[in-house]
Amino acid sequence: MVGRKVQITAFAETPLEGVDQFLDIAVQRMPDTSQLKAKDVLIEVKSSALGWVDLLMTSGQYQHMPPLPYTPGLEYCGVVLWVGEEIAPSQLNVGDEVLVDGFVSGPRSPGDYQQYGGFATYAVAPIEAILRIPKRLNFDQACNLLGSYETAYHCLITCGQLQAGETVLIHGASGATGLAAVHLAKLLGATVIATGRSDEKLAVVKAQGADYVINSKATNKDEKVRRFRGEVKALTKGKGVDVVYDGVGGAISEESLRCVKFGARFLIVGWAATPFVAKGKGQRGAPNANRLPTNLIMMKGLKVLGCPSVIATQHDPSIRPKRLQDILKWVEEGKIEPYVSHVFPLSNIKEAMKAKWNGKIIGGAAVRPIEAVK
Ligand SMILES: NC(=O)c1ccc[n+]([C@@H]2O[C@H](COP(=O)([O-])OP(=O)(O)OC[C@H]3O[C@@H](n4cnc5c(N)ncnc54)[C@H](OP(=O)(O)O)[C@@H]3O)[C@@H](O)[C@H]2O)c1
Repeated sequence: MVGRKVQITAFAETPLEGVDQFLDIAVQRMPDTSQLKAKDVLIEVKSSALGWVDLLMTSGQYQHMPPLPYTPGLEYCGVVLWVGEEIAPSQLNVGDEVLVDGFVSGPRSPGDYQQYGGFATYAVAPIEAILRIPKRLNFDQACNLLGSYETAYHCLITCGQLQAGETVLIHGASGATGLAAVHLAKLLGATVIATGRSDEKLAVVKAQGADYVINSKATNKDEKVRRFRGEVKALTKGKGVDVVYDGVGGAISEESLRCVKFGARFLIVGWAATPFVAKGKGQRGAPNANRLPTNLIMMKGLKVLGCPSVIATQHDPSIRPKRLQDILKWVEEGKIEPYVSHVFPLSNIKEAMKAKWNGKIIGGAAVRPIEAVK
């Protein structure tokens, strides 16, 4: 069967320029299995997560740049169409439903499988990348599991050591990784104060478990972010929070430094508000990097922790097995469940990517190459 695949043909100055000018949908023939390796798996993709990184990658501003042209879609699920001769029936069979690990296969992976992203009818992955879909999840939820929850786990648990009874301030809480952080923080027994710029999205964040929500959108032209120190102090009985989870960056980071206890942990997760810290078109260098005031860091005895989940795992792979095991166990136990606000057909890929970039999504989003529902 002839399928379709999204392809990025050049790195743009910005993600939106990439989507407008260097993204197209091409015909995709089913890969010829006689050319595949003995431990390869051919998958018909049912759903692929649409992540922030998929957008950043189009401009080469992400740390990893796949060879061009490439197909985006870091994490995807589907049905097995063919397995290589060295894969035993006890391991995997045609018709099995699988989740492909974006660390091992797909555009962010380091090896031979970078060309096979999830925004395509077909993908090939090595057997080491294949995971079973947790029973409680449908395809759209399953492909939104690992990237978001592994990030939240790495930041809150591995780096932040968040404990039951502590209070965490989560910025970008309506986002994919932010909402996963809300879920994990509640699972750990922490109190969550979540911020965002939209009451509508914050209502969902609250329904998903946040104890308190604060709208941080600027209310006048003189401020970049609404001052929320007083609210956070009131909610914490004047003490301030134990941990800040900052996936937004810019002005909100500085305001956060005034909302913390002495000795708090400040987790640098990302910079959704200031995405252009790195040069476009795959050039290296960060001329507009975020800056934090050292006087506040010093006087509050803060522990500022950079939390890049993929890079940290590449440096120390031993941090991943327990993380994966815990996340998969919590899903099986029904303790966490990815929230997916939007599902797009592949033919609407440009609209989908723009919706993600413009903050229209709550939690995860999925792209379906063929419109099938599990
Ligand atoms: N540390 C890691 O390992 C890791 C892993 C994955 C991603 N990240 C980074 O973490 C950040 C968040 O990723 P994500 O996947 O959660 O992104 P996302 O789903 O797009 O969510 C980002 C959230 O940030 C909020 N935001 C506040 N100001 C914004 C602005 N000016 N523009 C856009 N959004 C703004 C939005 O919430 P409101 O609209 O409610 O304000 C949005 O929901 C990104 O910088 C990403 O690169 C880090």
